[in-house]
Amino acid sequence: MKPIRAAAPTPEPPLVQGENRPGPPAELIFGDWYPALRTDGSGPARLRPGGTALATLLGIPMLLGRKNSGALFAMRDLCPHRGIPLSAGWFDGETVQCKYHGWRFEPCGGQCQEIPSLTSFDGLAPTKIYANTFPVAERDGYAWVYVPAAGAGRAGLLPDGSPDVAALPPVPELPKFGPRFRSAHLQAELPCNVDHGIIGLMDPAHGPFVHQAWWWRSAASIHEKTKKFEPIVDPRKLNDGFRMSPHAPSSNSAPYKLLGRPVTTIDFQLPNRRFETIVAEKNGKKSWFSSLTTVTPITASTCRIDVLAAWDIFYHVPLVPQIARYFGARFVAQDQQTMIEQARGLRSNPALMLIDDADKPAKWYFALKQRRLTGQGEHPLQGPVELHWRS
Ligand code: FES
Ligand SMILES: [Fe+2]
Repeated sequence: MKPIRAAAPTPEPPLVQGENRPGPPAELIFGDWYPALRTDGSGPARLRPGGTALATLLGIPMLLGRKNSGALFAMRDLCPHRGIPLSAGWFDGETVQCKYHGWRFEPCGGQCQEIPSLTSFDGLAPTKIYANTFPVAERDGYAWVYVPAAGAGRAGLLPDGSPDVAALPPVPELPKFGPRFRSAHLQAELPCNVDHGIIGLMDPAHGPFVHQAWWWRSAASIHEKTKKFEPIVDPRKLNDGFRMSPHAPSSNSAPYKLLGRPVTTIDFQLPNRRFETIVAEKNGKKSWFSSLTTVTPITASTCRIDVLAAWDIFYHVPLVPQIARYFGARFVAQDQQTMIEQARGLRSNPALMLIDDADKPAKWYFALKQRRLTGQGEHPLQGPVELHWRS
């Protein structure tokens, strides 16, 4: 039996010593898929058969792991008997055993298989007891976990503990435009709530200030832009959003000039997903870049940004993945540093403002979120819209 604690990732050091106290909380959207952690590649969270890792999603501590069969599981890190975290116990690749009284659980469906203290005088059937488990699916090297609304019980789980895909919204996936590609991922924790993380993601006006660098663009190159947007309407009313209609990217971004005539599409979809695809054609040859960025609530007042990218541009050029990771990491670190500073201001819960047109996507986000939480109101975009800003 392997003790789970030893296999858990060591906690990240504080972002900035003494400066990472979170600001005010946000309302959270339950009933959807969120990325919990990386399941492959290097790093402490990699899940090999028999391995476990800890994650917190929407304030819920979770124990994730992979059975010897390869099946992933995500359990609430809490024993249903007397509440000790299951991660204090053991995992042998088949069952999770609680440290306190040794109750043993099948971790995908959560069914209790053994209560060591029972005797022939007891009538209790252990198999009638369940630990809380969540649907989990693996996509693009991430474990995505479906987090049901509180009180929804075993929503989305089949009796054997596998996800009931017919009953759940689709698991998000990075779009790819060919079988051969390179990929990279980045992650950063943000000490602000998910709303600030998301509106930071769709904010066009911070680029020239937060991301100014010789290789990207300078504040002096700010110019007026017009962008077209259209609504994204999900028939299930869950993943509504909006699309920045396909356009040639801004001419002041140096890396874009190398790609031929690229066309960029940027989608935002509830609860937290930004898809950006760039498809370029040069001398009749197509090349592409695709990214999925999510901002996931860890708690009501903190979040984590994950950027997942794949491309076949420069497939054969050595070092491009390393260079992409380096610049991507710089880019995300700039956002992260800004949000650490912002969180310091937000701690006093100030009144804030959103202006037209640069903050219009943020207004749409809040309207879409309210609509999803309350089931009331119209989609904020009733058709194509044009926005103007300088960036
Ligand atoms: S608290 Fe887990 S078995 Fe008792
Ligand atoms: Fe940014």
